[in-house]
Amino acid sequence: MNATLFIVGVGPGDPDLLTLKGAKILEKCPVIVSPKSSLKGTSTALSIIKKKIDMKEKEVHELLFPMKKIYINSDIDNTVQEAWRNAASLILNHLGEGKDVAFPTLGDPAIYSTGYYLFETIRNISPGVSVQFIPGIPAMSCCSATTCTPICLGDEMLAVIPATFSDQRTRQILKTFDTIILMKVHRVYDQLTELLNELGLLDRSILIEKAGMEDERIVENLTKSEKPIHYFSTIIVRKNRSKLTRDDYLHAIALASIEDGNSTHSQMHK
Ligand SMILES: C[S@@+](CC[C@H](N)C(=O)[O-])C[C@H]1O[C@@H](n2cnc3c(N)ncnc32)[C@H](O)[C@@H]1O
Repeated sequence: MNATLFIVGVGPGDPDLLTLKGAKILEKCPVIVSPKSSLKGTSTALSIIKKKIDMKEKEVHELLFPMKKIYINSDIDNTVQEAWRNAASLILNHLGEGKDVAFPTLGDPAIYSTGYYLFETIRNISPGVSVQFIPGIPAMSCCSATTCTPICLGDEMLAVIPATFSDQRTRQILKTFDTIILMKVHRVYDQLTELLNELGLLDRSILIEKAGMEDERIVENLTKSEKPIHYFSTIIVRKNRSKLTRDDYLHAIALASIEDGNSTHSQMHK
């Protein structure tokens, strides 16, 4: 079988953040298999690439991948494994017919993405199958850029954690590292703000919701949520964060929008 499965990171939401390589691969693949998290919903990765890639001649499958907590080295929910196997079998059928398949995934495939679970499932069924990963811009890079907040500099140490597994490790990591990227914060936002407050880190934290998307929202001075926090939300905790003022941010954002000729989507909430 000569055909290849390409697992393509499509960036965090702004279609302009799809890489040139990712776009080239997506253009040439006749089959797109895209993950979605609910039966009625649509695939975010697919909606991103549709803005850049001509899909007319392509065979497109949107497959359900249930969102369940996965503990590495523990048993994985059957419905989740079944979804991986279904996707693997569909993809292997297309590859067997000699068709390249692209699996677009949000951000970068190496960071909390279905891409590697799919990879392992496919390799377990068919060890010789050709698979290539195409890196994408991770959400945290977009969150950093949109708020002019560096992720780590000099001797600073970085931790990236899924906040949804809120346990003693989160507290320990918040105490230990210089910059902490808290992902998957939406369901535990209120507990997190309490913890950040207790550790004296609230004014070192910034929430970025839907970075790079049309309704991007940036929240400083985190307090209990007044409205639901979207799933596409990340908190950057940077202990050495210089205390920029709202005007500094707005100035930087205005400069960036003049440079790319666009008006900014961001709303600052103080
Ligand atoms: C399943 S993980 C996917 C991460 C992705 N693979 C990456 O490289 O960033 C989903 C989490 O990524 C973060 N995320 C994804 N897109 C985002 C965006 N546009 N703005 C802010 N956070 C985002 C959120 O923390 C969300 O809960």
